[in-house]
Amino acid sequence: MKIEERYEKCSRLLQEYKQKHLLTFWGQLDEGGKDNLLKQIEELDFESLDEKIHQYIKSSSAMKLPAKIEPVPEYPALPQNAEQEKKYTEAKRLGSELLSKGKVAALVVAGGQGTRLGFDGPKGDFAITPVKNKTLFQLFAEMIKASGEKYGFEQRWYIMTSPLNHEQIQKIFKDNNFYGLKERNIFIFQQGTEVNFSLDGKILLEEKDTLAVSPDGHGGSLKALHKSGAIADMKAGGIEYISYFQVDNPLINIFDPLFIGLHVMNESEMSSKALTKAGPLEKVGNFCLADGKMKIIEYSDLPAKLAEKKNSDGSLVFSLGSIAIHIINRSFVEKLNAAGFALPYHKAVKKIFYVDLQSGQKIEPEKPNGIKLETFVFDALPLAGKSIILETIRSEEFAPVKEDQSEGPDNPVVAKKMMIARWASWLAQAGVEIPKKPDGSIDCVIEIAPSFAICREDIEKRKDKIPQIKSGDVVYLE
Ligand code: UD1
Repeated sequence: MKIEERYEKCSRLLQEYKQKHLLTFWGQLDEGGKDNLLKQIEELDFESLDEKIHQYIKSSSAMKLPAKIEPVPEYPALPQNAEQEKKYTEAKRLGSELLSKGKVAALVVAGGQGTRLGFDGPKGDFAITPVKNKTLFQLFAEMIKASGEKYGFEQRWYIMTSPLNHEQIQKIFKDNNFYGLKERNIFIFQQGTEVNFSLDGKILLEEKDTLAVSPDGHGGSLKALHKSGAIADMKAGGIEYISYFQVDNPLINIFDPLFIGLHVMNESEMSSKALTKAGPLEKVGNFCLADGKMKIIEYSDLPAKLAEKKNSDGSLVFSLGSIAIHIINRSFVEKLNAAGFALPYHKAVKKIFYVDLQSGQKIEPEKPNGIKLETFVFDALPLAGKSIILETIRSEEFAPVKEDQSEGPDNPVVAKKMMIARWASWLAQAGVEIPKKPDGSIDCVIEIAPSFAICREDIEKRKDKIPQIKSGDVVYLE
């Protein structure tokens, strides 16, 4: 189609949907600019635009809470009775078998920016380990490699990026020789974007020929897995289960046979790991049964009064927090895509650079001027036929790196301390004496490479390789 015809078509649609301002600078654009602008307009989903603006931009930001919210049942971190013990043993056996048969792949969502962390680059490239300063990506890669050796099958790793960091992440992996993994076992794919709106529902221009867009949230992974060919790739490789995790948690146990086994034994379509919240207002998602369906309500959406609600024994009603770790069936993602599913949007009011339509100048706003829409992967939980929760222990599996050093509990200093403490406790369980300061804190620095152990149980087999540790020692085991 000629550019004039494309222009006419877009112009009509924009007029109809009250977004004609996007063509304000048409007369000033060169051929490349015109083509660029039209391409983006042609990709807009006009059919859902009005509804999106009406439902998410113009209405109040408060999420509608379900009518009936109840706490959810969960599998405890440790079995509570003989029957459960038997079940956990069987689940571990099954999970290990599925790993050995190559039925499980890893998926990390790494499309977000490390803004809160004050790190100028993809978060996965943030150095975190206490002795060797390995980055999050390197640590995950080494875990996946070690897991491949343990189970006798080289697991595949799917990495979701966004337009904000795709090229950087590809380069990081190439420059680091894929951290010892085979390139063919790594599948890097990009998530989609959503256009940004002004507070009154007009799509913003970032440049005269470019719409303002931002990543569509980690919920976009469910669509991008399909669109990028990752799901087809999984199918071709016989992969049935996706082990989903976030890029910010160095304590992740990427392939947990117990979790995988319980998920499969329960015929769950999407399962979650949870932990007991540190307090009612901890900034994590809250598990609940909403109108009978498993759901996570983000901390920002759960009214404080509900978050603080207690049972008669004084425990919190909403005690289980999400650590954003899931097992998702490949077939569930296929089913969702075939059904043309739509996850609800969550809106964030932000400062967004834009081109002023009168002056044509690019403006850096001083206060929030626009809206970004995102979808969350956990909003797929109510769509799953069955969904289970496995509780886990914070000190073993959750030390997210979110905030900058100076503030907040989830900072790198805390995460490093937690890594050392976890590894120290693994060694202590194997009978190693850990030097302590008079105040009881650990008086050495420990790093255990995944090649040495990826979980507590692996330590037993390495007992003879563990040296004695003295106060002030810096120990690296590989
Ligand atoms: C998230 C969860 C919260 C959970 C907590 C546990 C949300 C909204 N909240 O909070 O329920 O308790 O983690 O640590 O998710 N990402 C993308 N693309 C995007 C946006 C995000 O890939 O468009 C990735 C990020 O790279 C990161 C993860 O998703 O790996 C989480 O994103 P972030 O915005 O940092 O979520 P949190 O607020 O930390």
